[in-house]
Amino acid sequence: MPRPVSAPLLWNLAERFGTPLWVYDAALIRSRIAALQAFDTIRFAQKACSNTHILKLMREQGVKVDAVSRGEILRALAAGYRAGADGEIVFTADLLDRETLATVAEHRVPVNAGSIDMLGQLAAVSPGHPVWLRINPGFGHGHSNKTNTGGEHSKHGIWHSELGAALDVIRAQGLKLVGLHMHIGSGVDYGHLAQVCGAMVDLVRQAQEAGHDLQAISAGGGLSIPYREGGAVIDTAHYFGLWDAARKQAEALLGHGLHLEIEPGRFLVAEAGLLLAEVRATKNAGANHFVLVDAGFNELMRPAMYGAFHAMEILPRDGVARASRPSVVAGPLCESGDVFTQEDGGVVVPRALAEARVGDLLLIHDTGAYGASMSSNYNSRPLIAEVLVEGDDPATARLIRRRQTVEELLALEAGL
Ligand code: LLP
Repeated sequence: MPRPVSAPLLWNLAERFGTPLWVYDAALIRSRIAALQAFDTIRFAQKACSNTHILKLMREQGVKVDAVSRGEILRALAAGYRAGADGEIVFTADLLDRETLATVAEHRVPVNAGSIDMLGQLAAVSPGHPVWLRINPGFGHGHSNKTNTGGEHSKHGIWHSELGAALDVIRAQGLKLVGLHMHIGSGVDYGHLAQVCGAMVDLVRQAQEAGHDLQAISAGGGLSIPYREGGAVIDTAHYFGLWDAARKQAEALLGHGLHLEIEPGRFLVAEAGLLLAEVRATKNAGANHFVLVDAGFNELMRPAMYGAFHAMEILPRDGVARASRPSVVAGPLCESGDVFTQEDGGVVVPRALAEARVGDLLLIHDTGAYGASMSSNYNSRPLIAEVLVEGDDPATARLIRRRQTVEELLALEAGL
């Protein structure tokens, strides 16, 4: 839980841009990209943080992009990514809605197909379209059941034993197979990883035996970050080594080189992001001491949705350190689940934090991934602003999304 930005800069940002506020450190994002440079392609799973300015930063660093909706394809294009068969943008999904089908066909965005139905629908409108096959190897892993994307309870990917059927459709319909892809969930452990690598080599063998050639394999995403102090830190060299060995086995089967991709979301941006909120009230309820802040689960959904843990910190307005006190941190929403200190199942867990007073700032750490991108307008709360800084320099701070207004929300319904 490195704090990417110092307390004086955070106070400066709160004063200039107001709270609640998302703050990202560009330098930290670049350092995470650098840690994965051994892979031929780093493809950013933009669902983790889809602001176009973050995407521009990724593009400047040579990172390609994954899109999972028409909106994400249009975001990538707005950030300067080129559409087309060379795959700067790849569209990953388990179905193609009609509008998205038209968009991928128009821009010839390679499609990473998670169902066989997608293949026929694509071939009908875009002959020879480049495709990847996303395979569900029959097992998965996740920090919560909601983020496990493998095994028979997951809707994701083409079931491993159906690879042959998918390849038959590709051949019959004249689509162009680019590669095989697997993403079994978020939160890696090396045991699962070795299993995934083995499964990938088996799949490449099956494709080769069926007379198909491939140019690439994708390791998917899922690299974890240490949300808790002392939590596991991914050894990226070891991670690469496992995949590189699988790649070499697959190359031996095919008799030529294979491009190796990785597709992280969280690893690239989680630790570079902070949610900055202001303490607006404190109160006691029986044994619990509540600290009420101006950000809610409509901003950061992860604790309410998964019981996810985020480190938190009080920045006292007077700058004087205070003794800690078990505190339940909650937001402004009219819903009792609007609590940031909770575990899976909605159990409220008080956290030892410096005693908070009205006017202090609350920092919620490691919120660069699945923070802003999962926000909603619940309780008619406008989306909040996002700011990008370079290291700790206030002069570099720039607004990369302005605060939405209630008028903008009402405009969608006006005059109808
Ligand atoms: N590739 C595919 C096909 C994915 O479905 C995902 C995430 C990723 C890559 C990136 O996974 P990452 O490296 O970020 O773990 N909202 C949840 C996470 C959902 C992830 C969905 N798919 C959370 O806040 O933890």
